Amino acid sequence: MAKLSFNLEDQVFVVTGGSRGIGLEIARLLLEQAARVVICGRKEEGLETAGRELDGGSRLLAVPTHIGKSDAVDRLFEMTVEKFGALDGLVNNVGMNIATGVVDADPGLWQKIIDTNLNGTYLCARKAGQMMREQKKGKIVSISSIAARRAAPFMGIYGVAKAGIEMMTRVMAQELAPFNIQVNAVAPGMVKTKFSQPFWSNAEIHEQVVKAIPLGRIAEPADVAWPVLFLCSQASDFITGQTLMVDGGASAV
Ligand SMILES: NC(=O)c1ccc[n+]([C@@H]2O[C@H](COP(=O)([O-])OP(=O)(O)OC[C@H]3O[C@@H](n4cnc5c(N)ncnc54)[C@H](OP(=O)(O)O)[C@@H]3O)[C@@H](O)[C@H]2O)c1
Repeated sequence: MAKLSFNLEDQVFVVTGGSRGIGLEIARLLLEQAARVVICGRKEEGLETAGRELDGGSRLLAVPTHIGKSDAVDRLFEMTVEKFGALDGLVNNVGMNIATGVVDADPGLWQKIIDTNLNGTYLCARKAGQMMREQKKGKIVSISSIAARRAAPFMGIYGVAKAGIEMMTRVMAQELAPFNIQVNAVAPGMVKTKFSQPFWSNAEIHEQVVKAIPLGRIAEPADVAWPVLFLCSQASDFITGQTLMVDGGASAV
């Protein structure tokens, strides 16, 4: 058996939503492991800031992309192959939430949340799966959430979308296993990013959240990025169709 290594030299990874938060940290770790990385986000300004912070030189490409739009997703992967000539991994990191339940939600709001979280992940994963199938090797990792398994008041549609991502992970893992492609997900609890800032920056909510986490703190982006790196590396070559809970033990109690 080959010597185990997290080194990803010359491998090419697309990280959606890599301009800030968890995605930025994932891009940083992949670059540290010598991979070539493509990040995307909707706003050019965010991508420029991330580009300066990551300082990846010729191993980094930023492509403004709305992942809910099929044409834009096709272009993202075309530009990846144009620049780097291959695709070894995809991290489906984009996610957004608008606080809502389901029963009283307007259908337009339902569509918007499903479009970005579930349809966007599907559009990227299907494209990557088709490309990786040709080369008989690849890694697809999606970011789910504890909201996929726990019905929470302000995360109704978001939770439905994330549950869909976990099922899609299992379905795609089955479809792509014959091509040596591993498809997995990680499901974080609360992480200190802009996404959840209204919650963790509120002292009262912060205290309540921490009380429910056995490890006694709210996650930092790196706490999620490390398990993602594991799932992008050869260390996880015999793991597929799984969702790894990254929640400080919250779901274990
Ligand atoms: N933070 C948490 O507490 C937490 C907990 C559980 C799971 N998660 C999941 O972790 C993932 C990352 O979250 P985060 O906290 O890092 O979020 P974040 O700080 O809000 O970052 C989101 C990233 O996605 C990009 N993005 C948003 N909508 C997009 C779209 N339609 N097309 C392309 N890019 C888009 C953003 O850039 P632009 O704004 O420029 O598009 C940004 O780069 C998400 O899937 C989220 O659901 C987060």
